[in-house]
Amino acid sequence: MKCSTLFYYLAAASSASLTLAANSTLLNIDVGSQPVIDVVDVKTQNGVVCLPNFYPLQDYDPMRPASVPTYTLPQYDESVDVGPNATLDADVQALLDSLTLEEKAGQLVQVEVGQFIGCDGLINTTAAEIMIDTWKLGSVLEATQNHNGRWNINSPQRFANFTNTIQSIALKKGSKIPLIWGLDTIRGANYIKAATIFPAPVNTAATFNPANAYNAGRVGAKDTRAAGVHWAFSPLADINRNKLWSRNFENFGEDPFLAGEMVYHNIKGLQGDYKNDRSRVAACIKHFIAYSTPTNGKDRDHPNVPWNVLLEYFVPAFKRAIDAGSATAMEDYGLLNGQNTAFSKKILNDLLRTELGFNGMLVTDWGEINSQWNRYQSAFDVEDAVYQTLNNSSIDMSMTADDIWYANSTINLVKAGKVSIDRVNESVGRILQLKKDLGLFSQPYSDPSLIDTVGSKQDVDLSRNSARESLVLLKNEKSVLPLATTENVLFVGPAVNSINYITGAWAIHWQGVNDFEGDAVYDGYGESVMTGIFNATGLTPHYIQAYNISGYRADGYDDVVKAARGADKVVFFLGEKPSTEGVGDINTLRMAQDQYDLVESVYKNTETPIVLALVQNRPFSLGKLSSYASGIINVGLPGPYGGMAVAEVLYGQYSPSGRMPYTYPKMDYQASTQYYTPAWNEYDPEFAFGQGMGYNNITYSNITVSSTDLVAGSPISVSITATNNGAWEQSEPVLMYTSQVTRRGYSPELYRLRAFDKQTIAPGSSFTYNFNLTAEQMSFVNVDLQRVISEGPVVITMNAFNKNAKTLTINLHES
Ligand SMILES: *[C@@H]1O[C@H](CO)[C@@H](O)[C@H](O)[C@H]1NC(C)=O
Ligand SMILES: *[C@@H]1O[C@H](CO)[C@@H](O)[C@H](O)[C@H]1NC(C)=O
Ligand SMILES: *[C@@H]1O[C@H](CO)[C@@H](O)[C@H](O)[C@H]1NC(C)=O
Ligand SMILES: *[C@@H]1O[C@H](CO)[C@@H](O)[C@H](O)[C@H]1NC(C)=O
Ligand SMILES: *[C@@H]1O[C@H](CO)[C@@H](O)[C@H](O)[C@H]1NC(C)=O
Ligand SMILES: *[C@@H]1O[C@H](CO)[C@@H](O)[C@H](O)[C@H]1NC(C)=O
Ligand SMILES: *[C@@H]1O[C@H](CO)[C@@H](O)[C@H](O)[C@H]1NC(C)=O
Ligand SMILES: *[C@@H]1O[C@H](CO)[C@@H](O)[C@H](O)[C@H]1NC(C)=O
Ligand SMILES: *[C@@H]1O[C@H](CO)[C@@H](O)[C@H](O)[C@H]1NC(C)=O
Ligand SMILES: *[C@@H]1O[C@H](CO)[C@@H](O)[C@H](O)[C@H]1NC(C)=O
Ligand SMILES: *[C@@H]1O[C@H](CO)[C@@H](O)[C@H](O)[C@H]1NC(C)=O
Ligand SMILES: *[C@@H]1O[C@H](CO)[C@@H](O)[C@H](O)[C@H]1NC(C)=O
Repeated sequence: MKCSTLFYYLAAASSASLTLAANSTLLNIDVGSQPVIDVVDVKTQNGVVCLPNFYPLQDYDPMRPASVPTYTLPQYDESVDVGPNATLDADVQALLDSLTLEEKAGQLVQVEVGQFIGCDGLINTTAAEIMIDTWKLGSVLEATQNHNGRWNINSPQRFANFTNTIQSIALKKGSKIPLIWGLDTIRGANYIKAATIFPAPVNTAATFNPANAYNAGRVGAKDTRAAGVHWAFSPLADINRNKLWSRNFENFGEDPFLAGEMVYHNIKGLQGDYKNDRSRVAACIKHFIAYSTPTNGKDRDHPNVPWNVLLEYFVPAFKRAIDAGSATAMEDYGLLNGQNTAFSKKILNDLLRTELGFNGMLVTDWGEINSQWNRYQSAFDVEDAVYQTLNNSSIDMSMTADDIWYANSTINLVKAGKVSIDRVNESVGRILQLKKDLGLFSQPYSDPSLIDTVGSKQDVDLSRNSARESLVLLKNEKSVLPLATTENVLFVGPAVNSINYITGAWAIHWQGVNDFEGDAVYDGYGESVMTGIFNATGLTPHYIQAYNISGYRADGYDDVVKAARGADKVVFFLGEKPSTEGVGDINTLRMAQDQYDLVESVYKNTETPIVLALVQNRPFSLGKLSSYASGIINVGLPGPYGGMAVAEVLYGQYSPSGRMPYTYPKMDYQASTQYYTPAWNEYDPEFAFGQGMGYNNITYSNITVSSTDLVAGSPISVSITATNNGAWEQSEPVLMYTSQVTRRGYSPELYRLRAFDKQTIAPGSSFTYNFNLTAEQMSFVNVDLQRVISEGPVVITMNAFNKNAKTLTINLHES
């Protein structure tokens, strides 16, 4: 496929006009000599030996970084107000002024890495030279393992060798402007071998500890940069609205405030002081906006969101991302309220730029401009799609992925006078400024000294700690948990014995590890629950697979009841195959029937207490299983270092401290239920937002406030003291909600989360949590799109939906 695609570019070369290379101070910086990072074991091909059409990617890169146990990086001031500036630096403006139209058009295009991979799966410098020289390419994205590369995941050495080779071509050919490379570093540098993969963002949200979002960003940035990549396509600020959607695990739950806090700290971790610190990357807040509420629950189905609802729930996390200084943003696939986002002045100019003040660089999602004519039927042809993009939106870069039509059409449109050169300058200016801010003109190559920090124990500890904190104990009747090492426990389900299944998609590959390579591709960078139990307890778990990862009967299905009868307890790991985007579309939240039947037959035919461990991308309906089980833990996708974490929680070496970051429905009809539903409405999910407990008995004092009157401009302080009466140390999150008793004209929401804090309390000790509450926080967006306050009594609730909830009523005043 790729070989024939390349001939197309050779042919195209003749039609492009000759252009002069730019001349500017930025391009005359001495970048020093190019680092050489040797890679071993590349199978030399005599002539061209193309990989077979079906290449199952069983071979993993044998190279490993040294993964030094600890490291220190130069520290920069992360508290500074960083972020993209509205105006260009003088040297960037000078470079922009020196560029030809063709050179400008090339900057607007981002292609996928497969364009530079030969049919042998190795780097094809000829193809890179032709494409960069002809089309003056501005950007590249992705990792080779998803695009016909030889190895199923690349060591940081091999990745850096590759990016540096391509970069050196860019500095010699075309416009000679360094390329910016983007990668889906979603949860640590999940596409780079040995890089520490973190829990899925939804698990990070369940920790209610933003330090975990920061750490995932910080480590992910360093590992990404080690590979010569400068830009992470994360975080997602989408809030989890339709529970059927395949991408909920990639965002930080259903609450706008929680998501905003996590997004803010994740961006601080990724970017830090990114204009000075070369171990950082540019963040990319996405997807602007309302991706997460597809009408039928399938990926990219059209969302319909009234504008006041959009401003109230969907915008706040993006606003926090812009406050954090996100250098870039990505527009959303498809449409919102019937209008195609890529062409929308209202969404991408009026809302994003004018109202929210975003000055950064705006990129499309994958193939989105071509999709306008070949999928969404919103443009006649490619040129019409590019015209509507440039004329109506503030999009700067097109992730065209597989072609350069965007550049060609831009050239044609400017020459024809249909698009002004000023509009093109605007976007190219933002792209060049971003490149300068990231240091690409002075340091275009990777920093080899970062390589050996990849996979450091220091990083692994951060991931494992986040995994631990992300597990949510939802039910624990008669103290079925924790398990005792003296008990005979039967473990059932393939997720017990797999790193892939506890990690999920966006790790190694887009859809997770494939069936051919299996966990071997992790090459020791991670552990299954089985290994975790062995390490934590010295026990070899009694394990029966019983069903496959899709829930259908497999080896040992018929042996489970008998084995359960002889066991003290049985722990079922229920789950689903890792997936994301369209591949993960489902029609119902029901699991495969075999999984329900097996748990039911153990319940009906034995006296053995049942524990459910839910290892899944999204909340599947439990039906009767929730009453059959004595214990339930929401495991989610804690990542490759989650095996130890799960074992420690099961065996009482860590008291759980996670809280549900979304509403867990009982049935399909609740797929679009959030806890901030109208107060009088049904809210009867399987598990509520914020639900969760530890093994300790934590008691709470009453709530105290500095004033019972809440007036604009005068915040009040709200305090509560938690006491740990248990035997274990307890990391305890406190969630502060408000509810209006009456809100004139606009039924109040059941609750809204206003603040949270998590502290560790030793056995026998207490901690006093202090929060502020403002009247402004109580405002909401009305249908006239104004923020208003409606006076009346307000109930402050700590730990709603949990046994130890406390409430206090105050009065809100309009002025
Ligand atoms: C490029 O700029 C340098 C000084 O910055 C100048 O000496 C040189 O003549 C310029 N070259 C071109 C082709 O304009
Ligand atoms: C990549 O590795 C090869 C093989 O060791 C080496 O010859 C080459 O110089 C390296 N290139 C870069 C840019 O590091
Ligand atoms: C860029 O913006 C930052 C704040 O984000 C400000 O401190 C700095 O002075 C600005 N720089 C320029 C050149 O305008
Ligand atoms: C490398 O790219 C060139 C130019 O497109 C092409 O002719 C050649 O066949 C490619 N090599 C391989 C191994 O695919
Ligand atoms: C794009 O702009 C044109 C011309 O200003 C306008 O007619 C059209 O409605 C706009 N399209 C969208 C999707 O906003
Ligand atoms: C978009 O097209 C309209 C109609 O041709 C024109 O008036 C407007 O200036 C264009 N906008 C931009 C940003 O080019
Ligand atoms: C670029 O546009 C011109 C003019 O429409 C067209 O003839 C040519 O085929 C296009 N080239 C590519 C590579 O699309
Ligand atoms: C855009 O670029 C053109 C050609 O380089 C130049 O004439 C024009 O002044 C630029 N416009 C702006 C707004 O920078
Ligand atoms: C588990 O135990 C093995 C053997 O003692 C050890 O090599 C490994 O590092 C341990 N893993 C963890 C996660 O503690
Ligand atoms: C929790 O501790 C408190 C204070 O010691 C005690 O009154 C209460 O009964 C305990 N609750 C449980 C469920 O053990
Ligand atoms: C806590 O509040 C309840 C209900 O208002 C009250 O009965 C109780 O005395 C209070 N306890 C303390 C210690 O103030
Ligand atoms: C509450 O507000 C005060 C005054 O602005 C501030 O000093 C304090 O840090 C705030 N407390 C919290 C928990 O945010």
